[in-house]
Amino acid sequence: MKVITKIADLQREVAAVKGVGGKVGLVPTMGALHNGHLQLVKRCVSENDCCIVSVFVNPTQFNDKNDLLHYPRSLENDCKLLESVGCCIAFAPAVEEMYPEEDTRVFNLGKVAEVMEGKYRPGHFNGVAQIVSKLFYAATPDRAYFGEKDFQQIAVIRSMAKLIDSPVEIIDCPIVREEDGMALSSRNARLTPEQRKNAVNISATLFKSRNFASGHSVTETLNYVVDTVNAVPGLEVEYYEIVDGNTLLPVSDWNESDFIVGCITVYCGEVRLIDNIAYRR
Ligand code: PAJ
Repeated sequence: MKVITKIADLQREVAAVKGVGGKVGLVPTMGALHNGHLQLVKRCVSENDCCIVSVFVNPTQFNDKNDLLHYPRSLENDCKLLESVGCCIAFAPAVEEMYPEEDTRVFNLGKVAEVMEGKYRPGHFNGVAQIVSKLFYAATPDRAYFGEKDFQQIAVIRSMAKLIDSPVEIIDCPIVREEDGMALSSRNARLTPEQRKNAVNISATLFKSRNFASGHSVTETLNYVVDTVNAVPGLEVEYYEIVDGNTLLPVSDWNESDFIVGCITVYCGEVRLIDNIAYRR
């Protein structure tokens, strides 16, 4: 595996692969890799001739500068993990390489970027669109892989790709969970053992709500999830929305769409956790 820090070097490698008709896959990450990331990487490795994984903590998507400061960094270990699953190139640029000057682009991403995370993390998705578009230009992949753990992010990236006429095929990968059901996240490492024990109730409640939903309305199901999670010590729901999986707009009836997803954000102490579940698909 090659570790590359410069865009020009990355482009040379990509040109060599494409020159012999090879396909290039990209997995954008912010590092601190766990098994959730690695499942995306494994899929990318299996479907392409060259798998590039970017490891870059993107400053423009952090609306909370404290969160940026505390974001875990472990490049050396990340590279070991990437090598072990057959990654071809780890692309780990410095901030100055990706942002030689301030990125003032404002993406008109539409409604999918305004609801839920868009409401609570202003500017976040514009920052995601900035960095992912830059990575698409730098790596010119045939395919790019994203996790459904960040369900809304995928919709935003599809919207960005359309805006810039990108030919990249965007591939969604299912959420990877711990044995007890909790969604894997780099942020889980910041939970105390006590908080971790409480936090499992987020996914457990989402799973239970699927049964609950079969005998109850959307509003009843929504209230069930919010009340059940809030009743756990140390957990505080920021929002729970049951939305159309394509438009991300709230639904009021189960028959409104054949793709319905519940998206939750919960504070566990200082740590902001997200998860989601499909009710219809
Ligand atoms: P990061 O949080 O590092 O996640 C990188 C990719 O891994 C994302 O597509 C995310 O959805 C996926 N992922 C994380 N945990 C997962 C899990 N438990 N199961 C499945 N997939 C999971 O998302 C970002 O970085 C950034 O916003 C980025 C797209 C790299 C732009 O900076």
